[in-house]
Amino acid sequence: MSEHTSLSRIRCAALHDRVMSAEDAIKYIFSGANVGMSGFTGAGYPKKIPLALADWIRQQHADNHEFKINVWTGASTAPELDGALAEVDGIEMRMPYQSDPTSRARINSGQMQYMDIHLSHVAEYVWFGFFGHLDIAVIEVAGIREDGSLIPAASVGNNKTWIDLADRVILEVNYALNEGLEGMHDIYYGTRLPPNREPVPILKPGDRIGSQYYHCPLDKIVAIVETQAHDRVNAFTEPDDDSRRMAQYIIKFLENEVKKGVLPPELLPIQAGVGNIANAVLFGLGDSQFQNLTAYTEVIQDGMLKLVQDGKLSQVSATALSLSPAAVKNFNDNIDFYRSRIVLRTQEISNHPEVIRRLGVIAINGMIECDIYGNVNSTHITGSTIVNGIGGSGDFTRNAFLSFFVRPSIAKNGDISAIVPMVSHTDHTEHDVQILVTEQGLADLRGLSPKQRAETIIENCAHPDYKEQLRDYFQRAKQQSNRGQHTPHILSEALSWHDRFEKTGSMKK
Ligand code: COA
Repeated sequence: MSEHTSLSRIRCAALHDRVMSAEDAIKYIFSGANVGMSGFTGAGYPKKIPLALADWIRQQHADNHEFKINVWTGASTAPELDGALAEVDGIEMRMPYQSDPTSRARINSGQMQYMDIHLSHVAEYVWFGFFGHLDIAVIEVAGIREDGSLIPAASVGNNKTWIDLADRVILEVNYALNEGLEGMHDIYYGTRLPPNREPVPILKPGDRIGSQYYHCPLDKIVAIVETQAHDRVNAFTEPDDDSRRMAQYIIKFLENEVKKGVLPPELLPIQAGVGNIANAVLFGLGDSQFQNLTAYTEVIQDGMLKLVQDGKLSQVSATALSLSPAAVKNFNDNIDFYRSRIVLRTQEISNHPEVIRRLGVIAINGMIECDIYGNVNSTHITGSTIVNGIGGSGDFTRNAFLSFFVRPSIAKNGDISAIVPMVSHTDHTEHDVQILVTEQGLADLRGLSPKQRAETIIENCAHPDYKEQLRDYFQRAKQQSNRGQHTPHILSEALSWHDRFEKTGSMKK
């Protein structure tokens, strides 16, 4: 990370006296503070300040001084933020989403509090005052204009809300960011609190309804740190045979819905969740006959950028660019082309239930497991251990035109069936989940009763190694004369599948 003191990206002369080192800037952060940081799926997080803060906290703890902060972000960040602060035990409460291994270990060992909430709820809950006062905002930006307005970085997340509500704002101006990002963002300043709310005026994914910049009173900006460092997003794995198969099931299904007249030929705006499988589905769409697609989504991953590059996707709305190094290069080399097709919004708008419902989004998300009735667990292993968090999957699923969940039918080399009698934790209920897809096939649950759903899920999606076990469970549950027959369960047995895995290392009998 080379030092930058050029001030060339801090074009507002009145702010030059606030440029300082990260070590000086962190003096504004105090133990117990609620700190709103930028960052969403490994993009747009501050790179120097959290590392300097982690060093400071380590020293404090070595001197027996308690020092912990509450960290609020857009979503997941990177080792330089979540990892570094968790490593030194510097986080009391983390919200709303994370995917860092060190944080995850601390949360699951009970040393760190974690509030996992729908991403569209975060800004408004903070405005409502549900989580207390926001003390400090730490925000990465691509530059500061002459009038003091701020050019957003590669993610927007909750930055507008953090800047609006914090007492003090610390900025990291990142010289590694392409200056061509200017003009790609749409920061909506029209949100009001109930009962004075008005409709969010987005009628198409590409509609612009706000400002290209964040606006912050200059006297709130207490420190500016110059940095030059790249976002850290790992390369995606090449789609494997299972992912390609799942992508094909989805594409065939969508083609059929077009034939039936349920969907228009250019489909409806697509949302694709995080992870390799969602990425593979997007690559699959690239080889399909669909043209003129649009997306109203949370994150632009490599697969989506490729669809834009190939002219398949004409408009994309998101809150973050989560791109591998190779995709970042492509993005930077062709930034004018992408700027005319991509809009980056605040996450309260990218994930807004009203807009998702109005546009009729097709939501495709990953899951940990689902049960035979269509309830989905996206977050927990054996009911207790959190993996990442619900992220935006609930915002989209509940309000989508079509909601898909995808994953291979087995995990851990076949010792786990991802289709179980009863999920060990529920994030998305049978009322919201419409279509399940594994490498075995696709289960269209629309219009089916619970028992019809169970038959369809077991027959279409379960792995052959577990099909007979699931059929047997379902048949015996139906034969229990002392139980209701709407959603038949043998409760003592349903959850023992998860126990069996914990005790013996396999769900197989
Ligand atoms: N039981 C036990 N462990 C399981 C499991 C199951 N049924 N399914 C997966 N796992 C384990 C995997 O083995 C892996 O562990 P490892 O890293 O030790 O190997 C881990 O859980 C993650 O699984 P993986 O299949 O690699 O995940 P993924 O990359 O396909 O992501 C989710 C799946 C559900 C974790 C991910 O989609 C997610 O976090 N979703 C919630 C947020 C979201 O949907 N955001 C998008 C909204 S816009």
